[in-house]
Amino acid sequence: MNSPRPFIVGVDGPAGAGKSTTCRRLAARLGFAMVDTGAIYRTVALAAQRGGIAFDDDVRLGALLPALQIGFEPPPPGAEGAGQRVRLGDEDVSQAIRTPPMSLGASAVSARPVVRAGLLELQRRLATAPGNRGAVLEGRDIGTVVFPDADAKFFLTASDEVRARRRFLELQTKGDPQPFEAVLADQRKRDRDDSSRDVAPLRAATDAVILDTGALSLDEVVERLAAEVESRLARRG
Ligand code: DC
Repeated sequence: MNSPRPFIVGVDGPAGAGKSTTCRRLAARLGFAMVDTGAIYRTVALAAQRGGIAFDDDVRLGALLPALQIGFEPPPPGAEGAGQRVRLGDEDVSQAIRTPPMSLGASAVSARPVVRAGLLELQRRLATAPGNRGAVLEGRDIGTVVFPDADAKFFLTASDEVRARRRFLELQTKGDPQPFEAVLADQRKRDRDDSSRDVAPLRAATDAVILDTGALSLDEVVERLAAEVESRLARRG
């Protein structure tokens, strides 16, 4: 008998809603793989920038994609809290993709249909790789486009002030402090671009569980998602 498809959990929402840490903890708790699809778009932006390719040059972006070997690796022992590493070929690009210019670059390339279509297969392959009991995918269109038939869909959100404050603190902790107003302005631009683009705009799937994380602790958010997934897993048997 064929083994069932891995249990797919899609977690979508705007930047700063708490998706990354929540997904990391949820995946660890469930023993599921974790696929950070934003990191994939960021890596495409980094490769484009390095190749001197404009973020709206569809022809050259289309030619670049098949040549990219993007993958994830578990964090080194002792650094589990930092989450998985992102690889581009042989290079660890985990840090290089997390800069403000790469945030804007990822938002720009992710608006190009050629990029979105070119990354679908990779996202699905990473989630359903042999040996995965399940996968938690973090993104913007997991529940609507990448896995419209996901086993559990969540849409995490919070007010833009709350989300910008989180990003502001995160950049400070990483030793890359930015003025709060600049973080808020960048985030508003990304929100606008991500929600207004023609392809796969940011929106909740009709069957997603919507959670405002503004008034919840991280533990509470993880608990709610885990409880929902565990009850669906039990129903699946
Ligand atoms: O989650 P993040 O900040 O790392 O995402 C970077 C950018 O990529 C963000 O502007 C939206 C875009 N993105 C997307 O369009 N679709 C996804 N599934 C994931 C990210």
